[in-house]
Amino acid sequence: MPRKTVHVCSDCGAQEAKWHGQCPTCGAWNTLVEEVLPEASGGGASRLRAAGGARSRAERVAPRRLREVGAAPVTRLPTGIGELDRVLGGGLVPGSLTLLGGSPGIGKSTLTNMVLGHLAGAGHGTLYVSGEESAEQVRLRAERLVGGSVEAKGDTVVPLRPSSALEVPIVAETELEAVLDTLAAERPEVCVIDSVQTLRSADLSGAPGSVGQVREVAARVMELAKQQGTAVILVGHVTKDGALAGPRVLEHLVDCVLQFEGERERPYRELRALKNRFGSTNEAGLFEMRQGGLAEVLDASARFVSEATRAAGSAVLVTMEGSRPLLVEVQALVARSELEQPRRVVSGLDRNRLALVLAILARHGGVGTGGCDVFVNVVGGVRVDEPGCDLAVALAVASAARGEALGGGEEPLACFGELGLTGELRWVGHPERRLDETARHGLSAVIAPPDSDARARTARNLREALALALPGGGRGPRIAASRGTAKSGAEPAAEAAIGAV
Ligand code: TYD
Ligand code: MG
Repeated sequence: MPRKTVHVCSDCGAQEAKWHGQCPTCGAWNTLVEEVLPEASGGGASRLRAAGGARSRAERVAPRRLREVGAAPVTRLPTGIGELDRVLGGGLVPGSLTLLGGSPGIGKSTLTNMVLGHLAGAGHGTLYVSGEESAEQVRLRAERLVGGSVEAKGDTVVPLRPSSALEVPIVAETELEAVLDTLAAERPEVCVIDSVQTLRSADLSGAPGSVGQVREVAARVMELAKQQGTAVILVGHVTKDGALAGPRVLEHLVDCVLQFEGERERPYRELRALKNRFGSTNEAGLFEMRQGGLAEVLDASARFVSEATRAAGSAVLVTMEGSRPLLVEVQALVARSELEQPRRVVSGLDRNRLALVLAILARHGGVGTGGCDVFVNVVGGVRVDEPGCDLAVALAVASAARGEALGGGEEPLACFGELGLTGELRWVGHPERRLDETARHGLSAVIAPPDSDARARTARNLREALALALPGGGRGPRIAASRGTAKSGAEPAAEAAIGAV
């Protein structure tokens, strides 16, 4: 028999027997979430009292000094996929819950299939619970993974062929209770639930994927996983605004939150840890989606730099992906706008960051883009979110606006540094590692903030950086900063940009 449930407002905590769109107590919309009542309690209102009562009956707990707490070293189960293991901090931890988020079609099922294929090949007990696809569909994918021809380009990409992908036990099931029974009976070391939004508990009346259901599924899976030491990967879809569905309700519950990112049309995929109770959240893993599944990209810099164009509007950014330096190309296009409100289109970067850099460029660099559309793209579908990208964006835009290649265009110019609001170039982390990376790829022209490293040309502010990067800038058509109204002030800039191309 289904257990009794109650609908609790997540804003004011009021409890209702039935679901309402608006909370009758506080008036908030869409805040009522269905929850299962504890078995002992009689009615909705007695829930808290029951919990309190239980506490008072429990024995007193004696606190211990931290020194006296025995902490066994965390054991880990390497997945055999180096990039994933690095992000996890060495592998999956038995009994832990990992949430793998990402938009549809990004490759979550492919990655988890490969993980289980590897683990099954290494003799570990695995289980794949598919709530989205039928067992036949999953088999077809596994066949692709086993049989796919993954040819490696140089030594920078490592194909991952999970030879035992077809040996992974699967259940195609959406009922939570059935899944839990199977898990308890099979006791696998690693279990993948694809996806948490498709499972449904019979105790709750809400639809699969609703906040109440998602929370209930995760909580009950976690309870069992901790009990029997199964490492569980919960696959979750992200909503349009980027939050893990089930309004982030799972993020605080699980031990580790991984985000799988990338553009569907491009092959690069990035795996980041947003939360990790057993490791750092600084690491990122890079993959490439190919025929035959995902391949690890070990030397992404080599790929991106060899593809860099060296034309006007292109700058090489030395960024940090966690603890690893990475060279990526930043491209910009500046063109006179037909629109009342010029467009600012950005991919791979934060939009607000671009707005900030454009404002600093206009105010402190003498490069106005007021009446122009500005497009900025991080090539390869990589997303950069560290302040060290400011200078590269500024130089790429300035180079595009002036129609002059950075550093004369003979060799790609690399740079890094954060721009302050007063136009100063600020120090960012790991300058030595960044410069090791440029040296490794034969890039000798690097512009960096003061005190970075003797190997770089340093600039104290944007103006100095522009003088170093665009030596022809002073002599060429001078672009006025857009003062006054956007249209009239920026017209010469647009003309200069277009005329020079
Ligand atoms: P999938 O893992 O199903 O995405 P998700 O579970 O995140 O929704 O895979 C998504 C895409 O990957 C799919 O469009 C096809 C592509 N793909 C390949 O390019 N090569 C392959 O070997 C496989 C298995 C998938
Ligand atoms: Mg999937």
